[in-house]
Amino acid sequence: MMTRLKVASIQTSPVFGDVSRNIDTALALIPDGLDLAVLPELFASGYQFRDRDELANLAEDLDGPTCTRLRTHASDSGTTIVAGLPERDGDRIFNSSVLVRPDGSTELYRKVHLFWDEKLIFAPGDLGFQVFEACGTTVGMMVCFDWVFPEAARSLALAGAKVICHPSNLVLTYCPDAMTTRCIENRVYALTSNRVGVEERIEGSRLEFTGMSQVCGPLNNILARLDGEETGAAVAEFDLVDTDKRLTPRNDLWDDRRPDQYSL
Ligand code: ACM
Repeated sequence: MMTRLKVASIQTSPVFGDVSRNIDTALALIPDGLDLAVLPELFASGYQFRDRDELANLAEDLDGPTCTRLRTHASDSGTTIVAGLPERDGDRIFNSSVLVRPDGSTELYRKVHLFWDEKLIFAPGDLGFQVFEACGTTVGMMVCFDWVFPEAARSLALAGAKVICHPSNLVLTYCPDAMTTRCIENRVYALTSNRVGVEERIEGSRLEFTGMSQVCGPLNNILARLDGEETGAAVAEFDLVDTDKRLTPRNDLWDDRRPDQYSL
């Protein structure tokens, strides 16, 4: 039977450190009746930490206020939610993404490719690229800068992901268009959820977040996209088609790979 999904990439404009209000605002932007909603990277904390102490004050474990609120919302709405948070695990803090199902079960991804000053304060992800059964399909997660490494989306697709959830805080403008290629080359759908607004909490380091949150299909098709300034939901409803890897009677995207000819 064909899987039909109604999904949204949620675009927010958080206020740094105002966790409770940022959660309220983000959850209020999720339309009713969705199977899957994706929120941005670090959606409740904000992005630009001045130092590791500041990060440590805002980091939470999976039983903290952010995941607890996500679980309540997923249970009340019946929507699976993916969202980014600073995740504490003992002495280490990861730039993580969680997937929360309506039954409260929770999956975790820890950002593998850290961007710029993230390298000074976060630990690099150590869970690899796993996939999970959720909302009637197979879902994988990657976070923001992971997009620039085709290995990330490829690893998820090879593991069986049909939908890639991509919480982001993008400052480079070309990711949304590039994600169409990640989707074509892997025959997957991708939800890139970005934020808008500016953070300049470190003198001389102004970050302008570029929005353009979107839902992208496998056939070079952008199913929904917001602009670079608004907050809201990029909503798409689609049958989950065109994710099989057979391209022509003589071409299969997986069988035709030639790892013996690549030097990676
Ligand atoms: C990024 O990885 N937040 C650009």
